[in-house]
Amino acid sequence: MNPMRLFVNVDHVATVREARKTDEPDPVRAAVLVELGGADGITVHLREDRRHIRDRDVRLLAETLRTPLNLELASAPDILGLALELQPHQATVVPERRDEITTEGGLHLADPSTRARVEQVVVALREGGIRTSLFVDPDEEALRAAASMKVEAVELHTGEYANAHSAAEADRQVERLRRSAIRGRELGLDVHAGHGLTYENVTPVASIPELEELNIGHSVISRAVLVGLERAVAEMGLLIREARRGEGR
Ligand code: PXP
Repeated sequence: MNPMRLFVNVDHVATVREARKTDEPDPVRAAVLVELGGADGITVHLREDRRHIRDRDVRLLAETLRTPLNLELASAPDILGLALELQPHQATVVPERRDEITTEGGLHLADPSTRARVEQVVVALREGGIRTSLFVDPDEEALRAAASMKVEAVELHTGEYANAHSAAEADRQVERLRRSAIRGRELGLDVHAGHGLTYENVTPVASIPELEELNIGHSVISRAVLVGLERAVAEMGLLIREARRGEGR
């Protein structure tokens, strides 16, 4: 099976820093340890309210990372401008609401005003030469809309899978993700996935051959508080590699 890339989202490191409005822990330093733990890339979400990651973090990450930077962004003009200036390896367009605790779902591309706004961002990123991914729910309509915008990739929202309250519902959601991954590939898209993935639930998703990249934040940073970042990343990397070899538990 093709390998799966693990991108680790370090937003939570910045969240701890912002709890005291000080300079530690530094997500840029944390990113070095994430890389040493074997991650294939680093993800950050620069939110309009700068509640965790700040412009300075993205600048330093763009300058110092040894692995690709995946910048999550909504449609704020200043953030788009920063992306165009810093040229991350990849930009992932996500929905954003000020009062949400975290991203709550995929882009509502069926809504004409959302679609128009996202399309403007996609065009600007394409003209800026930045590989673009759209965070979408695992549904046919969203995949077709993303493909029609000629983006390189989609990231399937795995939140409904992660929140499943029964084994049967989890199985149903994995099937939905599998079908969407196959459909995305048919439409010429690279297919990523993320949100709510943990050490306990990652294996069925990591076993979907058509998926190429996972974005995981909360669970890895939570474990890192107990065992350290390098070990937390290495343990997640091992689970994903085992799943790819069909050895998942
Ligand atoms: N993918 C996207 C688009 C996200 O917005 C987030 C959360 O920032 C993640 C993946 C990671 O989710 P989690 O922190 O639940 O692993």
